[in-house]
Amino acid sequence: MRIAVIGGTGIYDPDIFGEGTKKEVETPFGTVRDITIAELKGGKLEVVFLPRHGVTHGVPPHRVNYRGNIYALKLLGVARIIATNSVGCISPDLKPGGVVLPDDFIDFTKSRVGTFYDSEVVHVDVSEPYCPELRKALLIAGKKQGIDVKNGGVYACTEGPRFETPAEIKLLGKLGADLVGMTGLPEAALAREQEMCYASLCTVTNYAAGIAKHKLTVTEVLEIVAKNQENLRRILAKAVNLVPRDRRCGCKDALKGARVK
Ligand code: HPA
Repeated sequence: MRIAVIGGTGIYDPDIFGEGTKKEVETPFGTVRDITIAELKGGKLEVVFLPRHGVTHGVPPHRVNYRGNIYALKLLGVARIIATNSVGCISPDLKPGGVVLPDDFIDFTKSRVGTFYDSEVVHVDVSEPYCPELRKALLIAGKKQGIDVKNGGVYACTEGPRFETPAEIKLLGKLGADLVGMTGLPEAALAREQEMCYASLCTVTNYAAGIAKHKLTVTEVLEIVAKNQENLRRILAKAVNLVPRDRRCGCKDALKGARVK
């Protein structure tokens, strides 16, 4: 049973992997390129690495082929996915440079296809949206590496590609969001529809709009991601070895009781 890492902004394979095999996978949603199967540097297990925005970071958040990506991983025998995402922080408990493992999400995306079930009525349960087994492995991995990982938080996904307005951030905060990003959904929901485990390892790259007292720039996001990349690699390398062999979480049975007929 394979584990995949979906690499977000600024997380690139040459920095976190050894030599690997490149893959291209045909799916009903298009060809998914840029997949590498390799060992994480410092880890003992082979993982499937998929850079969400493509190797050249050319695909914006609202144009990512989320269905193709998840389906391609499924076809490669992946049962568990650890995603990395960069986020702005809304909660006063967080600050740039921090690492957070969200335990819930709010989906404010608008233009993305959020399901595999277009011609069949399927309502998948997301009462526990992120896999508890993967989250536990990531938390322990952080602890073992001496890296502070904040356990829990509500991730709000906006459509982008622009950053939010201060009023939007104020609203998201009132609704209970701690973090804001543009790529966590529908990825997490699609993984659940495929009965795959999914957890998100978020790097806080900035104070969200209006909380930050300056203009938001991609430059600052990339700077923080680059600074944190080594920590993420260490957490990931440790975590993949801590994940139990057999899945005991509810993710694997997500479709039980989800179909109308
Ligand atoms: N908003 C949305 N997405 C983001 C942010 C933000 O402030 N920072 C990094 N990704």
